[in-house]
Amino acid sequence: MEVAEVAAEMAATSLGNPEGRVLRRITKIKKILEADVGSWAGRRVLVGGWVKTGREQGKGSFAFLEVNDGSCLANLQVICEASTYPLAELVPTGTSVLVEGELKPPPEGVKQRIELKVDKVLEVGPVGEKYPLPKTRLTLENLRDFMHLRARTNTISAVARIRDELAHATHAFFRQNGFRYIHTPIITTSDCEGAGEMFQATVLFSQAEKLAKEIKENPLPTESDVEAAKLVVKEKGEIVAQLKSTKASKPEITAAVSELNKAKETASRLEERSKLTPGIPVKPDGGFSFDSDFFKKPAFLTVSGQLQVETYACAVGSVYTFGPTFRAENSHTSRHLAEFWMVEPEMAFATLEDDMDYAEEYVKFMCQWLLDNSREDMEFMVKNYDKTAIERLKLVASSPFARVSYTEAVEILMGVTDKKFENKVEWGIDLASEHERYLTEVIFKKPVIVYNYPKGIKAFYMRLNDDQKTVAAMDVLVPKVGELVGGSQREERLDILKQRILDADLPLEIYEWYLDLRRYGTVKHSGFGLGFERMILFATGLDNIRDVIPFPRYPGRADL
Ligand code: 4AD
Ligand code: MG
Repeated sequence: MEVAEVAAEMAATSLGNPEGRVLRRITKIKKILEADVGSWAGRRVLVGGWVKTGREQGKGSFAFLEVNDGSCLANLQVICEASTYPLAELVPTGTSVLVEGELKPPPEGVKQRIELKVDKVLEVGPVGEKYPLPKTRLTLENLRDFMHLRARTNTISAVARIRDELAHATHAFFRQNGFRYIHTPIITTSDCEGAGEMFQATVLFSQAEKLAKEIKENPLPTESDVEAAKLVVKEKGEIVAQLKSTKASKPEITAAVSELNKAKETASRLEERSKLTPGIPVKPDGGFSFDSDFFKKPAFLTVSGQLQVETYACAVGSVYTFGPTFRAENSHTSRHLAEFWMVEPEMAFATLEDDMDYAEEYVKFMCQWLLDNSREDMEFMVKNYDKTAIERLKLVASSPFARVSYTEAVEILMGVTDKKFENKVEWGIDLASEHERYLTEVIFKKPVIVYNYPKGIKAFYMRLNDDQKTVAAMDVLVPKVGELVGGSQREERLDILKQRILDADLPLEIYEWYLDLRRYGTVKHSGFGLGFERMILFATGLDNIRDVIPFPRYPGRADL
């Protein structure tokens, strides 16, 4: 931002609106600290944030507050005099303050660049009891017990800003390359990866619970209740018949008919209710019945938006989806979440080669973006977590990725003598994380794309190669993380795709719509999925994926 712009922004501490109400314009601490000296001294600003540390000085005549508003890592030093506000209420860590005052250059020889001399304390959110986050630094693992407060720490707020930058980088990259952003569904009835690791979306359990509760309050009618109600219907029917045969008056007959209808209604209601069975409905063959479920068929949280986004690639051309995906795999590793975000581009008229090119360019673009836009937070990561984080971004942004076929990769790994792998390497295995990391960290020392995997270990939709043994799949492997991206050219030939679905033991009916894309105007197309949290791990050098998503979900934990 230009200095003049910053100055204008900072000057605008309040604005009038048509109703004459005063809108307050808060100045972000980032803007204040970024601006150069000439543009800020003497300006009045309104600042809101949380006290990181506070101390009373000069025998209680004034207080220094280190205030952080989350806009950047650095705090603003705020000085408040005792005549302005009771200082004891301002200094506890965690207190929120909205203050107004004048920006001043700090005294000579002090390291702060600028400080705020407060003359109005407008709002204070006190810390009543003891602040739950201890002053001593908690490990990231312990901090996970404070999911609602951990964003106030330097690490987690830095991660939040880096995450936000990467999301912006993603949209910028695809937009620059002519892609459209498509929102694919969260709830789906197709299993994209065919791995059966889906969370089910159902109301059967809550329905059953509701019914059980209701039955407890209002027990189901017994058979004799139903019989009794039917008897009443019979009696009322006889009364009507009798009135008709004795030519009774019209109002008398109408009243009796109305009684009869009421009795019929009661009986049928009782009969319906007597048929209710508590619990989850089952079919005669023992399977669950979804007839009374919300969608009237089994539905799940998506594991990938790919299949649906393919429908748009086959119409709009280059598209991408970016959203949460869910996997009910019981993984306790530092690389797996049950809910994670995935970026999935899909390109019509694109081969595996194009796919690899895009994946490489996109990852490089994100690395460069962080170098350009997240310097302070990245330096924090270097200082506290991974000395090589910035070097890694530079290296990845500037040098080409290695590319090897799966067969070559297996040969390389089989020739390794200086390390014993826990999982034996032979052609046909799914590469384990230890193999992936060895390839990228030890052999190539940079990102490597492995392509043409054995068909037996990959999903049904990947294009069968001419050797009939491998598919046009590719994984991007990166240091620290292992697999960052998984993608492929898609099988565009109807017969082969059908056979691949059957070979995978998947029900053809569910994929008829997907096959239609091959029946009508089929097109070579390719795409990939980038694990967004894995990208953040790779960029920051943090060790655990649970610390790079605001609210991690993993086996046994779904806080908040
Ligand atoms: O390799 P995956 O399973 O590929 C797909 O889902 C394809 N449908 C993508 C596509 O072609 N459109 O997953 C893609 C990426 C992985 O490379 C990994 O980075 C990440 O998603 N990923 C996970 N990240 C966190 N937790 C998990 N449980 C993950 N599973 C996959
Ligand atoms: Mg994969």
